[in-house]
Amino acid sequence: MANGFPLHNCRAVITGASSGLGAEFARQLAPQAELLVLVARRVGALEEVKSSLEGQKARVFTCVADLATDGGLGAVCAFLESHGIRPNLLINNAGMGDYGSFMSSSADKTRVQLDLNITALTMLTHALLPLLEKPGGVVNVSSLAGTLPMPELAVYAASKSYVTSFSEALAIELAPQNITVTCVCPGPTPTNFSQTAKREDGTDTNREGQDLLRIPPSQVVGEALRALRHGRACVFPGLGVKVAGTLFRLMPRGLMRLLLRRRMKNNG
Ligand SMILES: NC(=O)c1ccc[n+]([C@@H]2O[C@H](COP(=O)([O-])OP(=O)(O)OC[C@H]3O[C@@H](n4cnc5c(N)ncnc54)[C@H](OP(=O)(O)O)[C@@H]3O)[C@@H](O)[C@H]2O)c1
Repeated sequence: MANGFPLHNCRAVITGASSGLGAEFARQLAPQAELLVLVARRVGALEEVKSSLEGQKARVFTCVADLATDGGLGAVCAFLESHGIRPNLLINNAGMGDYGSFMSSSADKTRVQLDLNITALTMLTHALLPLLEKPGGVVNVSSLAGTLPMPELAVYAASKSYVTSFSEALAIELAPQNITVTCVCPGPTPTNFSQTAKREDGTDTNREGQDLLRIPPSQVVGEALRALRHGRACVFPGLGVKVAGTLFRLMPRGLMRLLLRRRMKNNG
């Protein structure tokens, strides 16, 4: 286990900081950080988050970049270099889902999902690790969905399974270099996520049982930052999600497929 990352006076790069969990990471870090770099595509939404943090301790920068492209990843590195910023914390939070069957999915949306959830997270970590001052920290936002082979959310669940596995491996690899890696696996959380994941034809997800798992973004982020501070490699925020995550990870895969098949049949 790593020593843990001290949040006080941190210099953090937060991806997907224009809404939801990313904006909440910014809100909770602003009173104690030295500097925050907020990254996302929508300049207006980024500026709104920035103004909401006025008067807090952290100096806040916004960096507009589409992380699903090589150009966007390069833009983040160029931004840090041109502003002389040496971060010690990277929060890989930007991500998206797509509700509905794989066969009927849009190839473009599927590609962007892979580029954002997997490639951007991996390559931004690869680019920033050598720049990260020690003690350093990396938070990767995965999902409870990463513990399940989820029909009708197949690419998203598989991409988050990658994020969890990658993060747990890096946590071991980087601990001797005084870099703490924490993977956070939230359950359903009220943000813009569902709006983005919904299809244009209205295809939505089955929310049966989600009420037991849903907690606010403030609790998700609070638990994630506590886990980072204490050097924990993986956290499932909220009691319901903790129980579900443990159960799903221990369940025989055959039984899990049976239950998921039944759930899909019941969806009609
Ligand atoms: N909400 C949930 O139920 C839930 C559950 C488990 C895990 N998660 C994970 O939590 C993370 C944050 O999602 P959220 O729930 O906060 O959803 P959200 O409110 O939709 O936020 C997603 C963020 O990612 C940014 N983003 C999307 N595409 C991008 C791109 N190509 N380049 C740069 N930034 C991009 C968005 O900003 P712009 O649109 O301005 O680019 C936004 O700031 C994701 O990784 C998600 O998979 C969410």
